[in-house]
Amino acid sequence: MKKEIREAILQEKIKFSKTVAKEKSLAIFNILKEKDFYKNADNIMVYITLENENEVSTEPIIDDLMNRGKRVFVPLTVHKTKGLIVSELKDLENDLEVGNFGVMEPKKETTRPAEPSVLDLVIVPGVAFDKKGYRVGHGAGYYDRFLPKLSKKTVTVSIAFDMQMIDEVPADCHDIPVKYIITEKQFIGCMKDNI
Ligand SMILES: Nc1ncnc2c1ncn2[C@@H]1O[C@H](COP(=O)(O)OP(=O)(O)OP(=O)(O)O)[C@@H](O)[C@H]1O
Ligand SMILES: [Mg+2]
Repeated sequence: MKKEIREAILQEKIKFSKTVAKEKSLAIFNILKEKDFYKNADNIMVYITLENENEVSTEPIIDDLMNRGKRVFVPLTVHKTKGLIVSELKDLENDLEVGNFGVMEPKKETTRPAEPSVLDLVIVPGVAFDKKGYRVGHGAGYYDRFLPKLSKKTVTVSIAFDMQMIDEVPADCHDIPVKYIITEKQFIGCMKDNI
């Protein structure tokens, strides 16, 4: 079921032109940057978006955080354990190389591990979402294993194109919903739908 949803959304999403994807990504960033949980966050984890897959770009977020002197962390996937290492990013140009899944990840010598509990805000990737905050990810369960390690206070937010919103994600017991979702059309507080 998740597999079908994942494939259908990925196929539709790829149809956006680069220009449209960029416009929508900026609109989403403009909503995010006004939120207190964003403005007040000091330690933020954010993944690096794939250039060739149409996904909401995290580039404006990383640029903004770096400019404001915030501490930025990126995930490093560990294939063997299907776990994520949280690594501090200091130099966007030189710290990263192409890693698993073609995603830019910290190099061995520039991996600076940190405890997940230090994070105030985590941007959680995904392919499809529902209003309760449940997500269909890329299918390997990395974030499902990672999210329980966060402190209860850590804010989790996903950024997605509005077409990635679906009525209901078939959630498994290991699935942990995100707290907020931002699309180019709406800001969704998922907690109220969850309780
Ligand atoms: N907390 C966990 N502990 C052990 N295995 C897990 C856990 N969470 C998920 N998994 C396993 O990971 C696999 C992928 O999970 P799921 O189908 O929810 O992927 P996903 O949410 O699309 O992926 P991701 O979290 O990487 O975005 C499943 O086989 C699931 O059993
Ligand atoms: Mg999942």
